Amino acid sequence: MKGRILVTGGTGYIGSHTTVELQNAGYEVIIIDNLSNSNENVLDGIERISGIRPHFVKGDCTDIDCLKKLFAEYCGIKGIINFAACKAVGESVQKPLQYYRNNLNTLYNLLELMPENDVKCIVLSSSCTVYGEPDENPVTENSPIKKATSPYGNTKQIAEEVIADYINSGAPIKSTLLRYFNPVGAHPSAEIGELPNGVPQNLVPFLTQTAIGVRSELSVFGNDYNTPDGSCIRDFINVVDLAKAHVCALDRMLENDDCESLETYNLGTGNGVSVLELINAFEKATGVKVPYKIVGRRAGDIEKVWGDTTKANEILGWKACISIEETMRTAWNWQLKLRERGIM
Ligand code: WQD
Repeated sequence: MKGRILVTGGTGYIGSHTTVELQNAGYEVIIIDNLSNSNENVLDGIERISGIRPHFVKGDCTDIDCLKKLFAEYCGIKGIINFAACKAVGESVQKPLQYYRNNLNTLYNLLELMPENDVKCIVLSSSCTVYGEPDENPVTENSPIKKATSPYGNTKQIAEEVIADYINSGAPIKSTLLRYFNPVGAHPSAEIGELPNGVPQNLVPFLTQTAIGVRSELSVFGNDYNTPDGSCIRDFINVVDLAKAHVCALDRMLENDDCESLETYNLGTGNGVSVLELINAFEKATGVKVPYKIVGRRAGDIEKVWGDTTKANEILGWKACISIEETMRTAWNWQLKLRERGIM
């Protein structure tokens, strides 16, 4: 085994896919999750894919005593990947205190407990949200950080600053900040995927639920943007490609002496795809039509953002490689599996 890794929020969408890749790479994974936005049966899917059932602790990372108990029970944890956070942009506007308390207290607790438990490194799940509406695309890691347009985005910006200040104070740890663009799709086995509670806020789950008939029609939020087809542009990255980048980041911090104490990487495909292009890609990949209508813009939406991933390609040795069509097929197969299981 390559050592023990603590994955907070590990039964969530990106956390579960990352746990699979960590176990495939030979790491021993301990998941802590409060199951506020996921389900314990995700562990069954992880085990069916990788043949290993990760250790699981049901708990809340905002409770430092819960974390202390975990570190006492699972000694020798070498690194942490911190996914545990609330992540709905719109909800964060309605419930800012919940977002600041949950997302930041979690981080404060983890950082405080790392040195005394000899945990060497932490990967932070950050976001392209920190770039706001970029002046130009693709954005690089040196592109200006714009004022957050939501409490969610602000928690990501603050988290990055807290980690930098903590390391600059002399904390004996390393950290990698991974700025995700738009994670989409599901594991090719269809054993795990994105399963948002309630009505999906994100595009792809709403799209697949519409395609299967759970939703009657997809609303496309605006086609009057300054883009070729008028709809917003994003950098949609396959969740398995994204998960593999976390293993590369951990490997680098644990094994590579050239690694700086703090490194930041954009994790995207490097290509901008519009909302309407994504719908077309889904229909082409699956042969399934998606009924949609153009409606007004959604407040807070960025017009266009996609990433320059040269740094991750060259330093992490990582590159997204799964096409948008293949990604749409995995999203559809996951939706079919949910119907087969009677979940949706
Ligand atoms: C994408 C596009 C919508 C729903 C996401 C995550 C956020 C962060 C950044 C990681 C936009 C349009 C959507 C719908 C639509 N990720 N859309 N109809 O807003 O880019 O943010 O990436 O930290 O957590 O939410 O993603 O999927 O909500 O929207 O037309 O029903 O799809 O207007 O242009 P977004 P999204």
